[in-house]
Amino acid sequence: MELITETKRDGQKREHDHPAIGLPVAQDEEGISMVIKNVCCIGAGYVGGSSCSVLAWKCPDIHVHVVDVSHDTIKQWNSHNLPIYEPGLDEVVKECRGCNLFFSNDIDRAVREADMIFISVNTPTKTYGIGKGKAADLQYVEVCARKIAEVANGPKIVVEKSTVPIQAAQFITHILAANTKPGVSFQVLSNPEFLAEGTAIENLVNPDRVLIGGEESSGGESAMEELTWIYHHWIPQHNIITLSTWSSQLTKLASNAFLAQRVSSINAISAVCEAIGADVSQVADAVGRDSRIGSKFLHASVGFGGSCFEKDLLSLVYIAESLNLPEVARYWQHVNDINHYQRTRFGQRITASLFNTVTDKALAVFGFAFKKNTGDTRESPARCICSQLLEEGARINIYDPKVERQQIMNDLTSTKATSEPERIQKLIHIYTDPYQAVIDTHAIVILTEWDEFKSYDYKKMLSVMKKPAFLFDGRKIIDHEAVIKLGFNTHTIGKKFTPNTL
Ligand code: UDX
Ligand code: ADP
Repeated sequence: MELITETKRDGQKREHDHPAIGLPVAQDEEGISMVIKNVCCIGAGYVGGSSCSVLAWKCPDIHVHVVDVSHDTIKQWNSHNLPIYEPGLDEVVKECRGCNLFFSNDIDRAVREADMIFISVNTPTKTYGIGKGKAADLQYVEVCARKIAEVANGPKIVVEKSTVPIQAAQFITHILAANTKPGVSFQVLSNPEFLAEGTAIENLVNPDRVLIGGEESSGGESAMEELTWIYHHWIPQHNIITLSTWSSQLTKLASNAFLAQRVSSINAISAVCEAIGADVSQVADAVGRDSRIGSKFLHASVGFGGSCFEKDLLSLVYIAESLNLPEVARYWQHVNDINHYQRTRFGQRITASLFNTVTDKALAVFGFAFKKNTGDTRESPARCICSQLLEEGARINIYDPKVERQQIMNDLTSTKATSEPERIQKLIHIYTDPYQAVIDTHAIVILTEWDEFKSYDYKKMLSVMKKPAFLFDGRKIIDHEAVIKLGFNTHTIGKKFTPNTL
């Protein structure tokens, strides 16, 4: 393929392997030539904010406008303190913001000016009505579709990027088709995002694959070519998969369900290991060396968290039930049930080990985010385990390198978490220094796998703790032999406890 050399924003010349930059590459159904110059993204959350920042970075010839209903969120995207913490994101935003990347609340204008509109709004699990507790709530996606139908003044490609919503592309198409005006036409694509938090920039720059789902019509194929052209700026053709809309949407759900299932599988095995005296790390290592199985996502833990796994599993359960496939629904429901079992089991183990009561005992909790390198606490196992300990009357000193104090307080004292917010609030203390957090505590409980926890001076910590001192490693990141030698009674996932006789 012919290489094109372009001058990038940093003033350096780089080679580009797509021959069609700046040229029309496709036509819509009415035969109008389209060139994607303006992209708009509705929803400036984790998915929209990070993916469109990378898009702007990799496509200097495209003007990217990210919009959101939240004034606070947009204010933060336009500040030095971005609303999400993601390694590498600050640098990307800094380079592009004000050049070809813009953040605003002016949704109407952004939609009007865009050739292509990404929908990246939240799709939480429904908390009311039909499908309550399982189905994905598509109300925000619907608002976006209606907004696009209302203000669009020309042909638009609408790209459904939000996490989850199977069927969303079909119903966006329905709403848009019922609201067409002269000169206005729509093509709807599904382009699910596979980024994982904490490694979002890396995942966006070097994705394993990009899915582009569309209709099997000339309009659908043209729209897919347009989006392919955008990704082609930095992703090789063989990593871009075009498929039907249904397949694309289901692949997203299936991928998350498979990953969640691996974590639940190893966690289920961890319970067996604890009961019989095997070591889950050894089992996972040996199992993962079978090249048919592979080693990734076999790290036993306090359970998976995050905004996607549980939501997608429940969504899959709901879909299977709706399709009258109860065995399929039960299968995926169990993957989620094991996750709840794992969290509860760990909380119970802490209480049981501390002589069957944690009432009025101070415990230091290291980590509140659902995984390392993010400040996100959505569905974090730490929320559930801390709530369990607080219900038992424990006083907990929480330290997390990234999660804000207010976020922790909201998570643990909301009406969803407790019916006694005032009592619970008095039991929580948030620390910015882990060494202060451990003073006079009976135990350290590790709930997120932050790297810094591995290099703490546990000898120093032990010296200011109550004795016997306990360490519960819910992420299996500490050198257990070393802390046992120091004198800690150490419990970890997937390994039988041996009392410290040193
Ligand atoms: C996930 C998918 O990986 C991503 O492709 C999708 O777009 C969104 O959902 P994310 O939730 O950000 O990404 O993080 P991920 O790295 O998948 O971890 C999810 C949870 O599983 C975390 O709580 C993590 O700690 C846990 N986990 C992961 C384990 O407990 N053990 C493992 O071996 C791997
Ligand atoms: P995700 O993790 O899927 O990106 P987030 O909750 O982080 O989800 O972000 C979704 C964003 O979408 C939020 O910032 C929210 O304010 C925004 N949003 C929701 N509905 C609309 C809407 N109708 N128009 C614009 N933005 C919206």
